[in-house]
Amino acid sequence: MQQGKITTAILNRFQEIVGKDQVLADKETLMEYSHDETEKLVYIPEVVIKPSNTEEIAAIMKLCNEHQIPVTPRGAGTGLSGGALPHLGGVLLSTEKLNKILTIDERNLQVITEPGVITEVLQDAVKEKGLFYPPDPSSKGSCFIGGNIAENSGGPKAVKYGVVKDYVLNLEIVLPTGEVMWTGANVLKNATGYNLTQLIVGSEGTLAIVTKIVLKLIPLPKYDLLMLVPFASLEKAGAAVSAIFRAGFTPSALELIEINALQIVSKMVDSNVVPVTDEMEGHLIIEVDGNNMDVLMQEMEAIAELLSSFDAGDILFADDAQQKAALWQLRRKAAEAVKLEGYTIEEDTVVPRAELPTLIKSVKELGQQHGCKVVCYGHAGDGNLHIRINHPTIKNSHGNPEMTAILQSLFAIVKKLGGTISAEHGIGLIQKPYMETVFSQSAIQLMRDIKKAFDPNNILNAGKIFDSRD
Ligand code: LAC
Ligand code: ZN
Repeated sequence: MQQGKITTAILNRFQEIVGKDQVLADKETLMEYSHDETEKLVYIPEVVIKPSNTEEIAAIMKLCNEHQIPVTPRGAGTGLSGGALPHLGGVLLSTEKLNKILTIDERNLQVITEPGVITEVLQDAVKEKGLFYPPDPSSKGSCFIGGNIAENSGGPKAVKYGVVKDYVLNLEIVLPTGEVMWTGANVLKNATGYNLTQLIVGSEGTLAIVTKIVLKLIPLPKYDLLMLVPFASLEKAGAAVSAIFRAGFTPSALELIEINALQIVSKMVDSNVVPVTDEMEGHLIIEVDGNNMDVLMQEMEAIAELLSSFDAGDILFADDAQQKAALWQLRRKAAEAVKLEGYTIEEDTVVPRAELPTLIKSVKELGQQHGCKVVCYGHAGDGNLHIRINHPTIKNSHGNPEMTAILQSLFAIVKKLGGTISAEHGIGLIQKPYMETVFSQSAIQLMRDIKKAFDPNNILNAGKIFDSRD
């Protein structure tokens, strides 16, 4: 399919649809929207458009579809797989002006929101009503709920409460042709036809643009307790994780952070809340939550007792809200801190939980073989390990043969352990060369056929997840 050009006449039409001020093509704006948080990749769009409602998005899509102009939808640009990168030029469609929480339905424990609302803003708004929307990516203070839906994001709470897909009940979407529809109903159970709602969740903005979102909420737990547990061996920290679940506990967070990440992030945020020493290779951050403080105390004590058989060191119990926040800051800022330190390439591997120690060991060996520094952190309770690689010279994996070979080896290990290549960041641009590691050709073809049914002219976020083929 020939890619259409954005002519002056089309630019004028964009301006008529959204207003002159919301169609931007100055150098500064184009640069601002040319990258996200993925490695160091930069792709400059031809024009940035900031619509304010569903009708405007529908009109833009209809026009772009008629003229075969590529459209890249974008939330807050915090993605880590290059999903929002306008690698084909064309239109960068920002959802930042669709930023209203429309209804908090306290009768049904649901919220209806637009996609450009910051995740934490939404969480705080429902919290005021005693309600809880758990999915909490590290970037929750800046990412958009729409982007979270595109990537089926997770975060620390996923281990007890599930990921974004577990909360999405219904979506209003604009198809690449400009048609507007709702995907389901505002109900907790739905066995009515194919589940279009869940097909859109995690489809990385390749099938439709989400314009309204109905989310399930749950009652906010009253209390939580948090502790930080150091381990002399990173592998043993990994092994302790599955033991906690086997012993019958379900923490509300169970995160792992390797010592070098902890050192880097402590320095960046200027925190000495954790006494970091080289002797302690790994730390687990463990949280429990619920409505009965006595039960939570007993759980924490029992978990601490269990961990002593994994050579755990002195446990730090977070005493108050401030200390809890300081501990979480160390974990949440880890990705940003290590990226600044040169670990530009981030992976999002996931394996069955009990295979974590083997994954950790293999990752370290792989790093050594290839002369790369490697640091691990992540949602250990879900078996989801983020691996950041600091190659001495290569800072972008995308299109680099040496990095591709290293990552092929990593993903072959992940696959052998029963895992897969992305748990919560998506495939986007940078992981698509590895789709064949985990899917058969027929499975990928089926995905291409689904894409074609939604987007016959292949204009919406084309070339993400898999290469376009006409
Ligand atoms: C984290 C993000 C990078 O867990 O997923 O910090
Ligand atoms: Zn993560």
